[in-house]
Amino acid sequence: MTSKLSPCPDRAALLGELMAVRARTQALAAPLSSEDQCVQAMPDASPTKWHLAHTAWFFEAMVLGPLAPGYRPFDARYARLFNSYYEALGPRHPRPQRGLLTRPSVAEVGAYREAVDAALVRFVEQADDDTWAAAAPLLVLGLNHEQQHQELLLTDVLYLLSLNPLRPAYTAAPPAPAAPPPPLAGADRWLERPAGLVDIGHGGAGFHFDNETPRHPVWLQAHALARCLVSNAEYAAFIADGGYRQPGLWLSEGWAAVQANGWQAPLYWTLDGDTPVSEFTLHGELPWQPGEAVRHLSFFEAAAFAEWAGARLPTEFEWEAAATGASAPLLQQPTGTVWQWTRSSYDPYPGFRPPAGAVGEYNGKFMVGQIVLRGGSLATPPGHGRASYRNFFPPAARWQISGLRLAADR
Ligand SMILES: [Fe+2]
Repeated sequence: MTSKLSPCPDRAALLGELMAVRARTQALAAPLSSEDQCVQAMPDASPTKWHLAHTAWFFEAMVLGPLAPGYRPFDARYARLFNSYYEALGPRHPRPQRGLLTRPSVAEVGAYREAVDAALVRFVEQADDDTWAAAAPLLVLGLNHEQQHQELLLTDVLYLLSLNPLRPAYTAAPPAPAAPPPPLAGADRWLERPAGLVDIGHGGAGFHFDNETPRHPVWLQAHALARCLVSNAEYAAFIADGGYRQPGLWLSEGWAAVQANGWQAPLYWTLDGDTPVSEFTLHGELPWQPGEAVRHLSFFEAAAFAEWAGARLPTEFEWEAAATGASAPLLQQPTGTVWQWTRSSYDPYPGFRPPAGAVGEYNGKFMVGQIVLRGGSLATPPGHGRASYRNFFPPAARWQISGLRLAADR
């Protein structure tokens, strides 16, 4: 996938990957009705139709408009509707009001996507070499951007469907879900990590986001990192022990969030007293599974659980060093299950400078008040992540597929 592409890849290979990603987005929307695709369930979550249109607009705004000779936007008014947060690209429709965009229709957004796809094909086939050299990195960025929105589409749909008393499933459950790995106890649970200097950040060829650089040395104290993710059963023990009723376990802001929101369990659990019964998923309401990794936690809940467990959250540097070192195969489920909250604020690496122009707004301006998550979830598109990948969300966010892996001082 994209991480294997050089900065200026073969045209046919990139076009093939691009069209495959574009088609996958359409396929993710296919199980949803037009009504499903228009609703915005909360300010942080966008309608499916908006994701579909915004990812098309990104290619128009970043590639076709600036670089395709004579390109005319599909509809010049769409820039205002589907620009997410790029100040350099003009005024925007307010984010919390994306669900009010009953026009353009789902069908019109589909036509928009088809027109952009056709323009991308023509552009890739016809661009001169200098234009191609400028465009290829932006096309790869657009491809990775669209993959990020594929995951958001799913988490936003899950939140939307969870609010419907009919408890509708996005898709039917797979016939044989993968069994979780066996639980690890005692010393088996921990990967012992000596003190030392490690290199952190993306190095070498292949796509990466700007926030993964510059690669730089970081000193780590001796510590242990859990080989396994925290399970539903372990989190249920925290609940049963009154974890949500003990302010001493919580950061001040976290305890305030517990009080303000009435949190008693992960976002989609149904409890009978303190006992978990079921969990709402993309496959509808399913029986609660003790062995699965706990998910849909805020950073505050992850930190409180770690405190209760006599441990702590890993720093993002501890996570990355373990995931890239010789001991990496000993980590269970490093990716593909849940994003893992770290104890690291989303800050620029030393020497970080965002690129010039609108693409410089992609990551850098969000580097305050957010927490880094590492790994990747069951909704992360195949091939999208890497060990240096930095996901980030505000500490109270629970609608992403976020869990945790413990760490401990040594
Ligand atoms: Fe976006």
